[in-house]
Amino acid sequence: MRRLSLHLESDGVALVTLAPRHVDELAALRIANAQDIRVSSASRHPHEPSFADVVRSLNYRIASDTGELYPFVIIRAGVVVGDLNLSQVARGAEESANLGLLVDRDCRGQGIATCAIGLACRLAFSELALHRIQAGVQPENRASQQAFLRNGFERIGLARGFLFVNGAWRDHILLQKLAPGY
Ligand SMILES: CC(C)(COP(=O)(O)OP(=O)(O)OC[C@H]1O[C@@H](n2cnc3c(N)ncnc32)[C@H](O)[C@@H]1OP(=O)(O)O)[C@@H](O)C(=O)NCCC(=O)NCCS
Repeated sequence: MRRLSLHLESDGVALVTLAPRHVDELAALRIANAQDIRVSSASRHPHEPSFADVVRSLNYRIASDTGELYPFVIIRAGVVVGDLNLSQVARGAEESANLGLLVDRDCRGQGIATCAIGLACRLAFSELALHRIQAGVQPENRASQQAFLRNGFERIGLARGFLFVNGAWRDHILLQKLAPGY
């Protein structure tokens, strides 16, 4: 399946399908934010990835054509300020995806995540025809929870030991948003 190239913009923030032209800039951003990624993202790797590792993994995301992953960059004023992934896309009786994102530490607190999540929901429920988006957030990550809640996500509950993050199984608050009109 060939992935659609998607682009949606609002309030100066654009969500754009990850492409080869973004790889170096996004890899540098992810290296600069490695500490935050380590404490917020699921991983079984004991070592911090190198720049080359990150480039490899971004190219893998671009090449993935199973329909299970839609990787995006978040762009403001022509600069990559973060990334956002709709992953674990399940079709059939679920029509759902998981949403995860990162905003560069120098650009936080300016509403970028809130805007990007809103754009991702619009794409997910229109172009991708999904029924449900889920997000898992650690209880102490107040900014992330707030960005999802601002976009109409509802809290499903607390999933104990949900994901392996930063060397241990961590509890996560699960949030979901259903397609408009459901
Ligand atoms: C979580 C993250 C994406 C938020 O990005 P952001 O662009 O700064 O978010 P926003 O500016 O849209 O702010 C979202 C909300 O959080 C609030 N907020 C920001 N920092 C906060 C903090 N430290 N404590 C509590 N609330 C906070 C903002 O005020 C805003 O709420 P409001 O709309 O009620 O004012 C960003 O901090 C990040 O990339 N963190 C590291 C990776 C991560 O945690 N990803 C999410 C994994 S689930």
